[in-house]
Amino acid sequence: MTAAETTQPTGIVVLISGSGTNLQALIDATSDAAYGVRILAVGADRAGISGLHKAAAAGIPTFVCRVEDHESRADWDAALAERIADHEPAFVVSAGFMKLLGPRVLADHVVINTHPALLPAFPGAHAVRDALAAGASVTGCTVHVVDAGVDTGPVLAQSTVEVRQGDTEDTLHERIKAVEHPLLVNIVGRAAREGITVTDGKVSIP
Ligand code: GRF
Repeated sequence: MTAAETTQPTGIVVLISGSGTNLQALIDATSDAAYGVRILAVGADRAGISGLHKAAAAGIPTFVCRVEDHESRADWDAALAERIADHEPAFVVSAGFMKLLGPRVLADHVVINTHPALLPAFPGAHAVRDALAAGASVTGCTVHVVDAGVDTGPVLAQSTVEVRQGDTEDTLHERIKAVEHPLLVNIVGRAAREGITVTDGKVSIP
C-alpha cells in the first residue's frame, strides 16, 4: 500500500447542469486511490440530466437545488450553500454548472470552475460560440477559482485548442472537452492532495 492509499481521500462536491462528461472524468480518476479524491455528492440546478445518471451509476449521492423552487435568488443561494455543506467537502468543483453562484456559496466554500475558453477571453455562458464568432484561431479551456464576477476568478491552469476551418460549436466544444477533462482532473487532484489556498483574490496550490 502506498502512502497516498493509507491517507483519507479529500472529499469534494461536484456541481453540474448537463451531460457531466467532466464529472465522469473525475469519477474515473477516483477509482485510483492514489488520486486522493472522494466525490461525496453531486449537485445540480435541474433534474433529469445525464450527469445525474452518471453520478447515480457510480453510487454517488445526488441532490437537485432549483432556483425556481425558492422565493428569491438569495434563498436559493443559501439553500445551495447548505446542501453543499451537508457533505462537508474540502472544496467544490463546478463542472458545467450553468448558474452564477451566489455570495453565500462563495463565502462558505472554495469553488474550482472549468470554463471552455482561455479566460479572460470569452467569459460567460456561450464561450465556444463567442470564440468562433470572433474568428479566434486559438481557444481552449481554463480551470480557475470562482469569485463574485463572471469567470473572473484567479486562474489555476489553461490548455489551448486550435480552431479549425469548418468547426461548428459542437465540433470545437468536443475538442475543448478532450483537453478540459485531463486538465480538470489534474488540478482537482493536486488541490486535493496538496491543498488549495485563496488569499486576497490570489490562489495557490503549494
Ligand atoms: C464544459 O465544457 C464546461 O467548461 C462548460 O460546460 C461544459 C460542460 O460539459 N461550462 P459536461 O457537462 O462536463 O459534459
